[in-house]
Amino acid sequence: DTQADESTCPGSLIVVSNRQPYRHEYEDDEEAAAETASRSIEVDEPTGGLTAGLDPVVQESEGTWIAWGDGEADFDVTDEDNCVAVPPAEESYTLRRLDLSDEAVDSYYYGFSNRVLWPLCHGFTDLVENRSNDFDWYRTVNERFADAVSEHATDDSVVWLQDYHFALAPGMIRESVPQSTTIAQFWHIPWPLARTFQHCPAGGSLLEGLLGNDLLGFHVDRYAERFLDCVQRYVPAASVDRSRRVVRYNGTTTRVVATPMGVDAESYDRDARSVSDAAASELLERYDISPENVIGLGVDRLDYSKGIPERLAALERFFERNPSWHGEFTFVQSCSLSRTNIRTYERHGDLVRSEVTRINQRFGTDDWTPIVYTEDYLSNDELCALYRRADVMVVSPLCDGMNLVAQEYVAASVDGDGTLLLSDRTGAHETLGSHALTIDPADIDGFASQLEVAVAMPLHGRQRRIRTLRNRVFDGDLEWWMDTQFDWIRRVHNERRSDTRH
Ligand code: G6P
Repeated sequence: DTQADESTCPGSLIVVSNRQPYRHEYEDDEEAAAETASRSIEVDEPTGGLTAGLDPVVQESEGTWIAWGDGEADFDVTDEDNCVAVPPAEESYTLRRLDLSDEAVDSYYYGFSNRVLWPLCHGFTDLVENRSNDFDWYRTVNERFADAVSEHATDDSVVWLQDYHFALAPGMIRESVPQSTTIAQFWHIPWPLARTFQHCPAGGSLLEGLLGNDLLGFHVDRYAERFLDCVQRYVPAASVDRSRRVVRYNGTTTRVVATPMGVDAESYDRDARSVSDAAASELLERYDISPENVIGLGVDRLDYSKGIPERLAALERFFERNPSWHGEFTFVQSCSLSRTNIRTYERHGDLVRSEVTRINQRFGTDDWTPIVYTEDYLSNDELCALYRRADVMVVSPLCDGMNLVAQEYVAASVDGDGTLLLSDRTGAHETLGSHALTIDPADIDGFASQLEVAVAMPLHGRQRRIRTLRNRVFDGDLEWWMDTQFDWIRRVHNERRSDTRH
């Protein structure tokens, strides 16, 4: 079985993630519900990113996917009767959903995951809110996911957990599955410096939990190194081999690797080529933008880590310094609302909206709005049309584990003349930094200068840069990332199996 194709999983795959790959909408009408047979069901298929990339792998391995079902439960945590075979057209694997009560969601998801781990790992220690009970719920939810995994795990299973919602689960799973079950995890957000991590409530338990994995993946070397720093400092019983990036703790050997995640570059390329010119023109018309204008673009989840206020300040500086661009350059900022139950997010959204209004009042005229701000949902086609049409893409997070938007833009820049401005505080900068225009998002003057460079860059300079960027994005695409992950998984799986045999 070592001959297997790179992208296949060496055993039966059990994926664990917070978000589910498929959403089923059942008709709510009570009468219809009474006659179950006539109840209508609509299923949303996975769109984009990791979920869409992993789905065929789970299908192929006829595995199991365990996720929070987005539903409300009357009990604290329940997963009764909550298995469904997916995809609907060709049922290949089991999607098992855990429904969480409002209180569980508030504490595990809006609490410990997004009020503690998210800000802490992104270095926003001031924004950490450690409310009582949140960690207890995080542990309880991790326990329930671990229980669900162990019900499905066999000798030959490979468990692959995604992200920071499940730092405790690997250690719990390790206690209850067969010796030969392989456990892996990918941590999609940054790992912080040890001096930041020291403020993490229950930090020691989180590290110990993560050391239940056979394989732990990060996007870039520096996160892997920082994780090992933390283990050396805060888990004295662990033995750490820094050069091989291997940790031995409590009978488990954890291999720590850095594999930058990519996007499905071909599909962005294809979709961008297939959108008609009319699609971009329609969007510009909808936003009341002159078709002649040079277009700047930002696409983000509305999150304080994305550096949106800093971007607006740089745009304001740019317009101050360059009256000749008034009426000629328009910046489109698309934001998708996120985690709005958390006050910090709500306040941040208010700040962004009021800054946009203020800057537009300062410079705008009857026929020109400098910053077009929208929170409307954009379809994939609209997004690709915008990416393709945008002359300058601005990706300016204050901290970002990877940033896939930068890669999507490059893949969709099929005319070969777009310019990417990229923050040096993103994982993406490691591979794309040398051919993007680098910005330090907090240096507003320098940021504005790079906007000036971007709008004035001659065509051949833009073409040369984007060509190299496209090669990198295609070489390190989602398929490459999955193949690399499964290469490592196969390796630790074989090691574990030969260890258990001896
Ligand atoms: C980040 C996380 C993902 C998460 C996404 C959206 O990229 O690493 O795990 O899915 O944000 O956030 P949400 O909280 O809406 O799932």
